[in-house]
Amino acid sequence: MGTRFLPATKSMPKEMLPIIDKPVLQYVIEEAIDSGIEDILIITGRGKRAIENHLDYSPELEGFLRQAGKEHLIEKVHDIADRARIFYIRQKVQRGLGDAIRIGRRHIAGEPFAVLLGDTIIQTRSDRPGLRQLLDAYEEKQASVVAVHKVPHEWVSRYGIVAGQPDNDIENLYKLDHLVEKPDPAHAPSDLAIAGRYVFSSAIFECIDKTKEGVGNEIQLTDAMNLLATQESVYALDWKAKRYDIGNRVEYAKCFIDYALKRADTREAILEHLKKNMDLIANDNQV
Ligand code: G1P
Repeated sequence: MGTRFLPATKSMPKEMLPIIDKPVLQYVIEEAIDSGIEDILIITGRGKRAIENHLDYSPELEGFLRQAGKEHLIEKVHDIADRARIFYIRQKVQRGLGDAIRIGRRHIAGEPFAVLLGDTIIQTRSDRPGLRQLLDAYEEKQASVVAVHKVPHEWVSRYGIVAGQPDNDIENLYKLDHLVEKPDPAHAPSDLAIAGRYVFSSAIFECIDKTKEGVGNEIQLTDAMNLLATQESVYALDWKAKRYDIGNRVEYAKCFIDYALKRADTREAILEHLKKNMDLIANDNQV
C-alpha cells in the first residue's frame, strides 16, 4: 500500500516513484532484461494501473513530441515497451508475498523462474547485473538461490533472515538450513537479510501451498523457502551489491542522491549543491 509514502502514493503506486527521470520499477525491469530475462509477469493490484500505462506505448505523447520537434525523447518513452514480453495478473486480495508469487504458477508452467521485488533497486559493483549473478549461481548449482546482504543486527526484524554453511565452490554462497521472516533480534539466526531477488525451482509452489499465515497474518515467501530447504538445496548469495529499499523514505532519498551523483548530466550540479550544504551544516546554519 506504500503507506510510508502517503500522500505521494495516494493515487500512484510506490513502484512508480521516480529516481531522477525513471520510475523505480523501470530500473527493476531493466535489471531483469539485462540479465537475459525475456518474459516478465507483473503481479499488480487495484490502484496500480499507472504501471501498465508506463510499460505501454503512448501514441498521444509520442505524437506530441514529434510535433514539438522533440523526436529525441520518443525513444525514451517507447523503448521499455519493446524490450520484453510483459504480462500482468492482479492480486485481488493482499495476502502476502508468498500468495502473490503463487498467482504466477500457471504462467511459470513448471520452469525455474526469478522473482524481483518492485520496490528494490540493486546496484552491483561487478559488470554482471544483480539478477544475472543469481542466475549464474542457479545454473551452476541447479538449485534455488536468494540474494542476501549483511544488515546491522538491530535491523533484522525488518527482513527475511537466513542461516547456512559456506559453499566450497562459489565465493559468498551459503547452503541454507534455516530461514525466518522478520525475527526478533534476540533470536535471529544471522545478520544476512533477504534482498528482494530470488531464483526458484518450481517446487516452491507446493511449499507455498503448505505454508500457513505467518508474520503480519500473511503467507510469507520466506516460510515457504524454509520448507523448501528441508526438501532440496536452497542457497543464498551474499553479492556485495548496494541495495535500496524504496519502501523506506531515507533509502529512497539516498538512492535518488546516489543516482544523481552517478549520472554525467546531474553529477556536477548536485555535487556542488551537497558541498554547499555541508559547509552550511558545518557552520551550524540551516540548509
Ligand atoms: C519482503 C520479504 C523479506 C525481504 C524483504 C526485502 O518483506 O518478505 O523477506 O527481506 O521483502 O525487501 P517486505 O519488505 O515486503 O516487508
